[in-house]
Amino acid sequence: MGSGNLAVVTGASSGIGWEMSKQLAARGYDLLLVARREDRLRALASEVSHQTGRNTDVLGADLTQPSERRKLVSALESRKEALQLLVNSAGVGMVGPTVAPPLERIMKLIELNITAVTELSYETAKIMIPRRAGGLINVASTASFQAVPYMNVYSAAKAYVLSFTEALGEELREYGIRVMALCPGYTKTEFQAVAGVKYDDTRFRSVMSAAACARAGLDDFDKGKRISVTGLGNKLLVLSSWIAPRSITLKIGSRLMKNRAGQPLNDE
Ligand SMILES: NC(=O)c1ccc[n+]([C@@H]2O[C@H](COP(=O)([O-])OP(=O)(O)OC[C@H]3O[C@@H](n4cnc5c(N)ncnc54)[C@H](OP(=O)(O)O)[C@@H]3O)[C@@H](O)[C@H]2O)c1
Repeated sequence: MGSGNLAVVTGASSGIGWEMSKQLAARGYDLLLVARREDRLRALASEVSHQTGRNTDVLGADLTQPSERRKLVSALESRKEALQLLVNSAGVGMVGPTVAPPLERIMKLIELNITAVTELSYETAKIMIPRRAGGLINVASTASFQAVPYMNVYSAAKAYVLSFTEALGEELREYGIRVMALCPGYTKTEFQAVAGVKYDDTRFRSVMSAAACARAGLDDFDKGKRISVTGLGNKLLVLSSWIAPRSITLKIGSRLMKNRAGQPLNDE
């Protein structure tokens, strides 16, 4: 890849990562697309290069596996002159009573949503600090702002992503590296099916398309925001979680989520 304007996007085979990739290419980035389903990455890569003329490359990797993460880190290092932006969008959710899912599934969620995000952020920062330029977007959630019963590990993991990203962003500011936590609310992607959310009830929540979410996030990144909460409805939701007592938001969250646990997709 010859050009010096490379964005690496994890979770690019679907949803928000897919849309971010398309929009980043339209904004002039070359792409390295990462996820497990390499066939989908290849289809996206060929669509994007055809439409925008940008260089695109793919890397199939299961980011819950340390050895596969090292493959990605090597790919980042071998492209370090070009690397301008890392988007950590790969992530999974899990909804249900604590006793239901096998512990292994919970550990994989932590490995992907916390460990991989941390490792890849650090490795990217190490590459960008000497250059004193670059950017990092970590996808958190509106669930980062409050504890959510029946989604307890997921909401705690996203609280980690928000806190980690905010603090890292402040540290990296002096090196000219822009860091942002993207906090979507309910966005229509494969996320709900994978997480096992049984409802498609849009009456009480503002649902966004992945394209609108990606656009709002990238616009906020270009404005230099540290935290991007996508859409007015989600901004109001976050505001209300700051104002309301935690005991109340816990009870509301519990009532909303308790009956929405379906059967998660097997992601083996
Ligand atoms: N959709 C929402 O309502 C919502 C709300 C708030 C936050 N988020 C966050 O937004 C991010 C993107 O989710 P999405 O909504 O776009 O969901 P999605 O459509 O299910 O996309 C998830 C992406 O993560 C990748 N992924 C899953 N497991 C992986 C693994 N072990 N290794 C590598 N890649 C893996 C998937 O690709 P493969 O299966 O091909 O590996 C896919 O590309 C996540 O971090 C999610 O927590 C979503």
